[in-house]
Amino acid sequence: MAGKRRTAEAAGAGAAGTAGAGLRRGRRALLVLLAALPLPVAAGTVASSTPALAQGQLRIIGGTGASTQQEPWMVALGSRSVYGDYRSGQFCGGTLVSPTKVVTAAHCLYDESTMRPADRPDLKVIVGRSDLSTSAGSEVAVSQVWIDPDYSMRSNMWDVAVLTLAVPQPGRGVLPLVDQGATAPYRAGTVATVFGWGDTRGNGQYPMTLHSVQVPMIADSTCAQDYPDGAFRASTMVCAGEQNQGGRDACQGDSGGPLVVAGRLVGLVSWGAGCAEAGHPGVYTRVAALADAVRGQL
Ligand code: ARG
Repeated sequence: MAGKRRTAEAAGAGAAGTAGAGLRRGRRALLVLLAALPLPVAAGTVASSTPALAQGQLRIIGGTGASTQQEPWMVALGSRSVYGDYRSGQFCGGTLVSPTKVVTAAHCLYDESTMRPADRPDLKVIVGRSDLSTSAGSEVAVSQVWIDPDYSMRSNMWDVAVLTLAVPQPGRGVLPLVDQGATAPYRAGTVATVFGWGDTRGNGQYPMTLHSVQVPMIADSTCAQDYPDGAFRASTMVCAGEQNQGGRDACQGDSGGPLVVAGRLVGLVSWGAGCAEAGHPGVYTRVAALADAVRGQL
């Protein structure tokens, strides 16, 4: 846990976020909360909470095809019992960081109705499958789930989890974590790449194949204005996207997936208001803030 600051907000967010604070935050908070839900529940809300994108805008959104051949560390989280056989039961993304460990977002493993960790006995990590309509690669059972003890579903802080694979994946490429406390990869304007099987249009169109898109890092001060009332916490979050024109972003279903700079895992798809909107960039878990905590689980 070295280097990881346990803040009062993180520890007390659940209790402090009750009625009064919740009501004051009003619609923005609701929008942000809905945007943070994994895809099946959020899918119905996307159309209404996301203004139509202008025609011809780039759309994960704005991306192109990607492949687990080139990105062998890119994995899907699937639960066929909960999400059906369609698209292999995919509901989130993740990153293989060692032959037995996958880093993803904590909120991927939460049940939004109970606000508690979800019960998904058939949770699988799907490796080597770019096209979810195929049986390529394999579906690996999960033997252990670690969720950051400071994770708060209300504040979206410390949105990270580590899954242990029941069957090791030696020889499959892994993506190293950024160093604890690193700042260079987060400098505004640095171009990062985000990967996932999430919504490609912001209106519930989920692709069968993996996509990726390049997104510039956004300054913390800018993002704090984009998400006022303290929704954006630079201590554990970082923003990336097209601040002024929108059009490139992660979206529902991409959660937990990697944001990559220079061959390192620097962010995890966490939340955002709508998708690819100007002035509402994607918000990612800042991996440099919790790299040591994650390494403690490897
Ligand atoms: N929370 C969403 C999910 O569970 C990801 C939302 C990301 N939104 C964004 N605009 N980048 O899939």
